[in-house]
Amino acid sequence: MSTPTPTFFAQFDEQQLVAADKAHYMHGYHVFDEHREQGSLNIAAGEGAYIYDTAGNRYLDAVGGMWCTNIGLGREEMAQAIADQVRQLAYSNPFSDMASTPAIRLCEKLASLAPGDLDHVFLTTGGSTAVDTAYRLIQFYQNSRGKPEKKHVISRVNAYHGSTYLTMSIGNKAADRAPEFDFLGVADKIHHISNPNPYRAPDGMNEEQFLEFLLTEFEDKILSIGADKVAAFFAEPIMGSGGVIIPPRGYLRGMSAICKRYDVLYVSDEVVTSFGRLGKFFASEELFGVQPDIITTAKGLTSGYLPLGACIFSERIWQVIGEPGSGRCFTHGFTYSGHPVSCIAALKNIEIIEREGLLARVEDVGAYLEQRLQSLAELPLVGNVRCMRLMACVEFVANKQTKALFPEALNIGEKIHLRAQRKGLLVRPIVHLNVMSPPLTISYAQVDEIVETLRSCILETAAELQSNGQYDGR
Ligand SMILES: Cc1ncc(COP(=O)(O)O)c(C=O)c1O
Repeated sequence: MSTPTPTFFAQFDEQQLVAADKAHYMHGYHVFDEHREQGSLNIAAGEGAYIYDTAGNRYLDAVGGMWCTNIGLGREEMAQAIADQVRQLAYSNPFSDMASTPAIRLCEKLASLAPGDLDHVFLTTGGSTAVDTAYRLIQFYQNSRGKPEKKHVISRVNAYHGSTYLTMSIGNKAADRAPEFDFLGVADKIHHISNPNPYRAPDGMNEEQFLEFLLTEFEDKILSIGADKVAAFFAEPIMGSGGVIIPPRGYLRGMSAICKRYDVLYVSDEVVTSFGRLGKFFASEELFGVQPDIITTAKGLTSGYLPLGACIFSERIWQVIGEPGSGRCFTHGFTYSGHPVSCIAALKNIEIIEREGLLARVEDVGAYLEQRLQSLAELPLVGNVRCMRLMACVEFVANKQTKALFPEALNIGEKIHLRAQRKGLLVRPIVHLNVMSPPLTISYAQVDEIVETLRSCILETAAELQSNGQYDGR
């Protein structure tokens, strides 16, 4: 798309839109009081890494939408591919004995990109339904192989795996556990172990000792539940909304080895980490040396152009569940599983990533982002800077020595985010954090813009807090 003109923005009746938003639109993660007061930032257009609100203000979107606008917004050839598919076949029933060519082609392509024998694909509507599908697949697999007792699953504190009742319960972020909601738990065979955040390792532990602690904790958890009862381990290679948690070196490989030892399926939730965010189509095997039994993906799969997710699983599971002559039917599916237009968008997205060499690009520009962001570590308020390729996060603390956090009500992440927004930069506030995941096409100059804007926002916020007596600069 070309850069939007003032005529384009003239079409928006802002006052009416603000009123309608407040009156009728309940958002994901709706903060009632805030929304009633402030409404929302209404985005009207996007081009590459920039987005524009209805008033025509431009923002550098360092969040990449929601970790998803990997190839950047406003691609003409994507618009064309989507429009062509809508004209040709806008919808096709995906159940039982019906298919469409885009869905078939996409499953074939995903099987070729996924590591090892992950050759079978169940298409979903997004990440939550991909993780939900993985869970149901595991039940189906264990029952099919005559192990109905083997149903317990283990995840980690601070994990995020989606927003359905089940996936929110497999995840476990304090900030997501609004007391008005109910969650499944241990009685429902869902368990959580420690978050592998080296910055918050128990006192006095170095990285090696922390790794040992985490692996032992996992093995002990399996043994305490009973290895014959544990079905699966769910893990994001790098925890995304949990705060870009980059685990100690060897952690994922160690967890995978324990899974193999006890016949526990390894589910790698790559909803964020796939399709180039870490410089690979899938990070599990290529970056971390782990061969999962199941990979879930979404987001960068279509770069956010259309909703789509996938649960990709192994030949071993396929052989069991689809045993010839078993008469089984996998009674699971969504109206929009394998939606032909979403599948065309995914195929075009993969074509663009391959043709433009975006994976290799991420290795370079990601290294630059990491190096530049680390220069913020010396600033007041900054406790920890975490970055791997194009997943990044700055953690703010009240005291760098003790790593003590500010009271949640002070909303430090939000404070810095709002200041950045006024300067034309979007970072994502998550309580004490600012999280970033820019498009893979982000330029070096845009990386500089992100880092320098953040620097000024952090310094200004520190000064403001100090003058209010809310921060002593330690
Ligand atoms: C690791 C992970 N899994 C699953 C999901 C859920 O994906 P969706 O919002 O598309 O349902 C997310 C979303 O942020 C995620 O980060």
